Amino acid sequence: MRASIAGWGTAVPEQRLTNAELERRVDTTDEWIVERTGIRERRIAGEGDTTASLAIEAGTAAIKQAGITPEDVDLLIVATATPEQPIPHTGAFVGEGLGLRCGSFDLGAGCAGFVYELVTGAALLQAGNLDYVLVIGAETLSRIIDPTDRGTCILFGDGAAAFVLEASPDDAPGLLAWDLGCDGSAAGLLGIPAGGSRMPTTPETINQGLQYLKMQGQEVFRRAVRAVVESARTTLERAGVTTSDVDWFVPHQANLRIIEAAANRLKIPMDRTIVNIDRFGNTSAASIPLAIAEAVDDGRITDGDLVLVSGFGAGMTWASAALRWGRAS
Ligand code: ACO
Repeated sequence: MRASIAGWGTAVPEQRLTNAELERRVDTTDEWIVERTGIRERRIAGEGDTTASLAIEAGTAAIKQAGITPEDVDLLIVATATPEQPIPHTGAFVGEGLGLRCGSFDLGAGCAGFVYELVTGAALLQAGNLDYVLVIGAETLSRIIDPTDRGTCILFGDGAAAFVLEASPDDAPGLLAWDLGCDGSAAGLLGIPAGGSRMPTTPETINQGLQYLKMQGQEVFRRAVRAVVESARTTLERAGVTTSDVDWFVPHQANLRIIEAAANRLKIPMDRTIVNIDRFGNTSAASIPLAIAEAVDDGRITDGDLVLVSGFGAGMTWASAALRWGRAS
């Protein structure tokens, strides 16, 4: 059995945060942000938007596009670094909003979360003899960013994207190969220090701003390029293909310079690399599916294309997958 992608959907908040607006908030310039990151604007959750509300909107669109009903969904996985609340898991709210009663769980692997849930969803589809698994990457990173930290507030945006995975015959399009990894020795490079078991929230942690994301950007950058390139190569080897077979490379949208460096080392030209970071910034677990969905909707990715996805994130995690785009006929 192979997991193919039967439907996809996206949701982004209406509100845009431009570099010009950030110039007024922190000591930065449009020129610096564009040159160092490639980002021009990001979407920011409005008052009524939450991680679950964006996930529900994206999930609804994906279910509709797949031509199925909520009753057909056998399992829901939500990848997020910005859950609706600590307990219960975000999937409980999303499942309720979508009208599901199937099992659900959240998956935390930072910005690599979507590829992790794609692989997990495909494996459970096979192991459990399921028909449909709904995987959603959803984030409201604007809610965990220190608005005064110019090293992070320029990077992140909000959004969600969902894929319906469908059980298909072995020779159908779908997930061909993957690679997952995590180097926990680098866990301190990127994270939210307070609010968990190690450091419960207290007035003191709040005074110190420890509820916000902290990042050692340069070191994350250095490791990200290496992780994406090595993981992508491993995945292609496992799929029995080479970079010249790749029709579309869809990297995690964290920084245009990381994307260009990885594509360059993999010898994949930029005109076969999907980039939307200029308009959405880094949307973490939503970034890769958002970029794929856009490229499918505007006709760049078409049936039969070999799509290579690769991401990295807090942990530090990395994850890549090779997909043959299309649905079993
Ligand atoms: N505007 C103007 N100047 C700035 C800004 C800003 N927004 N931010 C930093 N600077 C300054 C620094 O203070 C520093 O000044 P100094 O030389 O006087 O000390 C200078 O610019 C260079 O700073 P660097 O940190 O070296 O800048 P760099 O080129 O590395 O860019 C960035 C910083 C954009 C954060 C980059 O390191 C990056 O993108 N790293 C990867 C981040 C990433 O991918 N994170 C996502 C992880 S995925 C997840 O799971 C969430």
